[in-house]
Amino acid sequence: MTLPAAAEKRQFVERMFDVIAPRYDLLNQLMTFGIDRRWRRAAWPPGTVARRTRPRLGCGTGDFVAAVAACGARPIGVDRSAGMLREARRRLPPTR
Ligand SMILES: C[S@@+](CC[C@H](N)C(=O)[O-])C[C@H]1O[C@@H](n2cnc3c(N)ncnc32)[C@H](O)[C@@H]1O
Repeated sequence: MTLPAAAEKRQFVERMFDVIAPRYDLLNQLMTFGIDRRWRRAAWPPGTVARRTRPRLGCGTGDFVAAVAACGARPIGVDRSAGMLREARRRLPPTR
């Protein structure tokens, strides 16, 4: 497989995540033997106080957004991949 030229790389990445979005979490857990969850907990330990900030995250399927929201913050999840955002919306309750 040849990698796309620089100009097409962004679309290539977007399309790739659109395609894998429905299976992204499963693939992530399989490929990392479940360590990906430990990484997220280390990056945002439960109970981290974030009330005064409104973090903006490249959200993917939303695991991080859920962890940050559980600490009282109101994160904004952004992602270039519509497929990943669809998965995030499907998995996470809408925030007010
Ligand atoms: C490896 S996934 C990580 C997703 C999520 N943060 C997680 O922890 O599971 C990377 C995500 O970044 C998104 N992404 C890549 N480049 C981006 C960009 N320039 N702007 C916004 N999102 C981007 C991809 O669509 C993908 O959903």
